[in-house]
Amino acid sequence: MDLIIETKALHKRYGKFEAVNGLSLEVPGGSIYGFVGPNGAGKTTTMRMLTTLTRPTAGEAWVAGHSVTQEPRAVRRAIGYMPDEFGVYDDMRVWEYLDFFAACYDIPEANRKRLIDDLLELVDLTHRRDDMVDKLSRGMKQRLSLARTLAHDPSILILDEPASGLDPRARVEIRELLVELSKMGKTIFFSSHILADVSEICTHIGIIEAGKMVAQGSMEQMRAQLMPHREILVTVRDEETAEKVKTLVSEVQGIVNVEILEPKAGRSRVRIDFTGDDDGVAAINQKISSAGIAIMGFTEETKDLEAMFMRVTKGIVT
Ligand SMILES: Nc1ncnc2c1ncn2[C@@H]1O[C@H](COP(=O)(O)OP(=O)(O)OP(=O)(O)O)[C@@H](O)[C@H]1O
Ligand SMILES: [Mg+2]
Repeated sequence: MDLIIETKALHKRYGKFEAVNGLSLEVPGGSIYGFVGPNGAGKTTTMRMLTTLTRPTAGEAWVAGHSVTQEPRAVRRAIGYMPDEFGVYDDMRVWEYLDFFAACYDIPEANRKRLIDDLLELVDLTHRRDDMVDKLSRGMKQRLSLARTLAHDPSILILDEPASGLDPRARVEIRELLVELSKMGKTIFFSSHILADVSEICTHIGIIEAGKMVAQGSMEQMRAQLMPHREILVTVRDEETAEKVKTLVSEVQGIVNVEILEPKAGRSRVRIDFTGDDDGVAAINQKISSAGIAIMGFTEETKDLEAMFMRVTKGIVT
């Protein structure tokens, strides 16, 4: 797959301290890439180098095929950057804020009204068009900030903690917006320290700790690499059916354990511990349904991903 953002042995040193320490990042074009790590891991510093705001002390980074040190202007044209701080724009109305940034990107005045209308529509702020920016809620400010990064129609979005400090509903709204932007063909590289935010929508993740990448890849690769096994919960009508499921799946390759759980809401449940990949999960489903068993529910428990994050950031997996 073509990489749209790539770094090789990237370093940023402050005095003797290596904030980013030999980072190799690989972001495929069209991906939603979650850049996850604890506070102080080096996420913002990495993003500031990718956006040409600060120079690497060693190593190289390319964005849309352009070197961040050799061709910073071309890099800036290709990206939309949302910093972790909104900044102070007390005295502006919502539309003026977008107008200001559109003007910064040399978008002709005649085109700006239409553009602003489209952007406000996209981030669902049309009804706040004439409100003062500082009166918006945090969630709305984040959406406005996202709209601003889109003014010059960049193909890559670099977003520093777009969901931080938001309530659950506003977080969901931001996530939905990111998925929508991805469908519009944009590559999205965003940071978070909340793995749940990332795992819901990401196609790829990279986990950074103390300036180093500790694990990176597609969601499926990450799961396969880091989770010892996956847990699948199958819900069927009754105990007898659960027994049938148990016998059937016990023959599947990669099964670690099959257990019938206490019935819940009058339904029987079977928990399958399994070491296979996505094809294996599909094969289990197939096996049960082709035996003519009615499946009431088939879900994969993802709580292990949080455990994986804890394990990785404790340095057990390096
Ligand atoms: N200008 C600077 N001068 C000195 N140290 C810095 C500077 N900027 C960042 N650092 C240090 O570099 C490390 C990485 O910081 P960075 O802001 O990149 O982390 P982060 O992963 O974004 O963390 P957070 O989740 O808190 O946003 C931290 O220890 C920070 O204190
Ligand atoms: Mg940060």
